[in-house]
Amino acid sequence: MFTGKVAVVTGASRGIGRAIAGKLASMGAFVIINYNGSEERAMEVKQEIEAAHGAAAVCQCDVSDYEKCEAFIQNVIREYGHIDILVNNAGVTRDGLLMKMTEEAFDQVIDTNLKGAFNTIRFASRQMLKQKSGRIINLSSVVGVTGNAGQANYAASKAGIIGLTKAAARELASRGITVNAIAPGFIETDMTSVLPEKVREASVAQIPLGSFGKPEQVAAAVAFLASEDAAYITGQVLHVDGGMVM
Ligand SMILES: NC(=O)c1ccc[n+]([C@@H]2O[C@H](COP(=O)([O-])OP(=O)(O)OC[C@H]3O[C@@H](n4cnc5c(N)ncnc54)[C@H](OP(=O)(O)O)[C@@H]3O)[C@@H](O)[C@H]2O)c1
Repeated sequence: MFTGKVAVVTGASRGIGRAIAGKLASMGAFVIINYNGSEERAMEVKQEIEAAHGAAAVCQCDVSDYEKCEAFIQNVIREYGHIDILVNNAGVTRDGLLMKMTEEAFDQVIDTNLKGAFNTIRFASRQMLKQKSGRIINLSSVVGVTGNAGQANYAASKAGIIGLTKAAARELASRGITVNAIAPGFIETDMTSVLPEKVREASVAQIPLGSFGKPEQVAAAVAFLASEDAAYITGQVLHVDGGMVM
């Protein structure tokens, strides 16, 4: 389905990004596995993809760094000729109540989660405009829609992703480029493994389908939005959250 396509997945060394990289590769895409600090785990993702007869490359880049993102995306274009799918998945949390949140914790989360997506879109969209085709999928979150106590920085970054998605969708639509967001609920990854058991139980109680989701369930939604079947869908936020937000 994605044979001959080049897909860039940011934050693909672990969790949801890892599942997205595996899914797109299993459907024929050549996947660029971006990571920041987890080199070994990124190499494992590449090996897993190759063991399943897929193709991938690994590329370190801190997505919060504008100049490094420019070099990263230009390098992908130089090496592989085009970018067909861009998945902005890299994300971090630095939770804390507003009154205690440091400026540094606020900036780090906004810089990685929101500015990071702007940085890659800024450079990849130029190539997609030339190609007159492309798919951009940004990872938001339920808390970007509902807010969450203790996550002012993270909720702001994820709400920002929705605005960025819609603005980019409007700007790029005339050249056949779609831009959509996915808003996962609670998904089983390193990010949620740190939740205390009590918080976890309270969270499950808010999920109509009664359990945390799996990274593969988010990856399936990404694959759909990246596919030809989703050609007439742009500027949307697809909730993959067991019914938390409806
Ligand atoms: N898990 C959930 O319940 C949930 C819910 C809603 C939304 N989301 C969103 O889904 C995305 C993936 O979450 P996850 O749970 O899979 O997180 P995770 O397991 O903590 O993995 C985060 C990934 O992001 C990468 N990353 C972090 N900072 C980066 C940077 N500056 N530059 C490049 N890569 C960076 C990490 O790479 P390194 O390890 O190499 O640094 C890692 O691959 C995030 O955007 C998150 O906000 C998750």
